[in-house]
Amino acid sequence: ATEGSDIPLKKNWSETWCTLTIGFDEVLPQILNMEVRDDDVFIVTFIKCGTTWMQETAWLLMNNLDFEKSKKLHIWERSPFVDHRGLQPDLPDIVELCKNLPSPRVLKTHLPANLLPFDIWKKKTKIIYVARNCKDVVVSSYHFLKNLGSWSGDNLDDFAEDFMNNETMYTCFWTHIVDFWKMRNEPNIFFTTYEEMKGDLGKVIEKLCKFLERPQLTKEEMENILNHLSFENMKGNNQTNLTDTIKGQVPSAKEEFQFMRRGIVGSFKDELSPALQKKIDDWSREYLAKHGLTEEDIF
Ligand code: A3P
Repeated sequence: ATEGSDIPLKKNWSETWCTLTIGFDEVLPQILNMEVRDDDVFIVTFIKCGTTWMQETAWLLMNNLDFEKSKKLHIWERSPFVDHRGLQPDLPDIVELCKNLPSPRVLKTHLPANLLPFDIWKKKTKIIYVARNCKDVVVSSYHFLKNLGSWSGDNLDDFAEDFMNNETMYTCFWTHIVDFWKMRNEPNIFFTTYEEMKGDLGKVIEKLCKFLERPQLTKEEMENILNHLSFENMKGNNQTNLTDTIKGQVPSAKEEFQFMRRGIVGSFKDELSPALQKKIDDWSREYLAKHGLTEEDIF
């Protein structure tokens, strides 16, 4: 792809594909070499897996449930999206901004394991990884990227095809997830799923407190955090619902763009045709079989 082109740039990094935009050429070396602090916490996800939900959760746990501050400051100011400038080169230098953040920092990235800062592996920095079932990610990212103007096709069938051909942002989906699933028992890795969070967020929070070396919450604190993190409350909160922020930043975003869309498990059931569901399942099964895995092992 040539300079200024919007054709995604495919790179073959240590035998895995990650489809990124041209803008990443500039920021990737900076991210790979960024200085990571011992007490940093990285939220690592493939897109649309519940990143923002987990960011808000982890930020609150790392900041003594400071609801006041969380309601005053935008999530991206409290917990920067490290690779954001790779997608939007007109943004300020986010890696540089991270240097001014007080510790402990809660940082977000969608980069796969093999493109994370080298320091993370040297320092064994804490990583919270959130996975989500493939068919819901296809549906969620279709609405997200299409309404953002970042995918120019017509329908879900075509989008799913591009997704499975690793031609949409940050794909390959399964490589992203399987790399972390394999590392899930490392002491610095906390692996969870959107489905687990939807099933019992309180239990995930209890496990997170242990992982983050934070005191367990009292009954009242737990009620307060669960209330703050509900879909409805995060949707009604401009510091966590990114709809207006993204619309303001991305000129190609359409009027109908909604960041908090359905927030459920299984939206694929009424949005994907049975034939498309089968196609994605077959594709997933084939990929996972090479690693001796099935979807049920992960979700
Ligand atoms: P849907 O598009 O299926 O509604 P990310 O932050 O990784 O971009 O993920 C966005 C997805 O997480 C969206 O999914 C969004 O609705 C969902 N989400 C965000 N906050 C949530 C919450 N508090 N509870 C449940 N789902 C939430």
